[in-house]
Amino acid sequence: MAIEPVNVMEFQQLAREALPKMYYDFYAGGAEDEFSLKENMEAFRRITLRPRVLVDVSRINMSTNILGYRISAPIMIAPTAMHKLAHPQGEVATAKAAAASNTIMVLSFMSTCTVEEVASSCNAVRFFQLYVYKRRDVTAALVDRAERLGYKALVLTVDVPRLGRREADIRNKMVAPQLKNFDGLFSAELESDSGSALEAYANQTLDASFQWKDIAWLKSITNLPILVKGVLTGEDAIKALEAGVSGIVVSNHGARQLDYSPATISVLEEVVHATKGKIPVLIDGGVRRGTDVFKALALGAQAVLVGRPVIFGLAAKGEAGVRQVIETLKTELELTMALSGCPTLKDITRKHVKTEKERLLS
Ligand code: FNR
Repeated sequence: MAIEPVNVMEFQQLAREALPKMYYDFYAGGAEDEFSLKENMEAFRRITLRPRVLVDVSRINMSTNILGYRISAPIMIAPTAMHKLAHPQGEVATAKAAAASNTIMVLSFMSTCTVEEVASSCNAVRFFQLYVYKRRDVTAALVDRAERLGYKALVLTVDVPRLGRREADIRNKMVAPQLKNFDGLFSAELESDSGSALEAYANQTLDASFQWKDIAWLKSITNLPILVKGVLTGEDAIKALEAGVSGIVVSNHGARQLDYSPATISVLEEVVHATKGKIPVLIDGGVRRGTDVFKALALGAQAVLVGRPVIFGLAAKGEAGVRQVIETLKTELELTMALSGCPTLKDITRKHVKTEKERLLS
């Protein structure tokens, strides 16, 4: 009998059993040596907590506001591609789980359900993740559709001028399904003789010349707030501020792009300091425990996004699995707050964590 997962990591094994190897590898893998993939998680483990006691924690409130939208906890669903490879209901199941858990789903540009299908399936607050195609007209048309359908923000992913080398996908000759948002333009199933079809597709279609100044173009075609996802340095955080974006997601794309990029939690503070509190900073990469969420908040993040665990939940149990992943993280965060003397998110401060560097110096 299959195990009943008691934590988020245990969904990974269920997903491995449920999925064809090609798809499991696609979801689980990272770029090249997968150094950053391990580091994203390990860096969280190197941070310890500084709990406070004898505080009234008889009531814990985890709710927060993201760009003005109230959610039940600072745990959102990261944009990840092609959910129908994990489950027949694809992104619709994920969106329904987001609605049930009262959180925000960021729908991937590379979704296997259309923006319309996801919008009509549930009343979750939805953000839309964007890449910029060489064909700006195609990008603009999709932005327009998302805006009309009530997506509340654009999450511009800026770490994919080219696709990272995910060796498992190259080895498996990864085949990708039809990407439904682009019917008529890229309607065929994606294949490549030389290796990963996704790599061939991304490198042919995405605009590698897009730069900070081009965010002005994006702003000119939409009224939606724009978050940039994929910032890892204080320098780029300042560029993002200058470009007038509404928020930053500290991310290394789940370590699927540039291997040896830093663990995201290790650079969060640098980005937070550079923004001087002017715009919200979110983070993703390696969040697997409620304690990880707590650590990210203590280091200045407003919320975290979760990628792989959501897909593993989807592969294992569909909508219910995604819900269970989010609820498990919420349960763990709530307990962490209680045991650390923090009844609300505002009570979580920099003093509640100790980094490895601080431990070595003390
Ligand atoms: C991703 N990610 C991603 N990001 C994005 O902006 N657009 C996308 O289409 C995808 N697709 C995608 C597919 C898969 C299978 C994974 C694992 C990741 C990156 C994602 O948004 C997020 O940054 C990471 O997944 C966060 O790391 P964890 O939570 O997976 O460790």
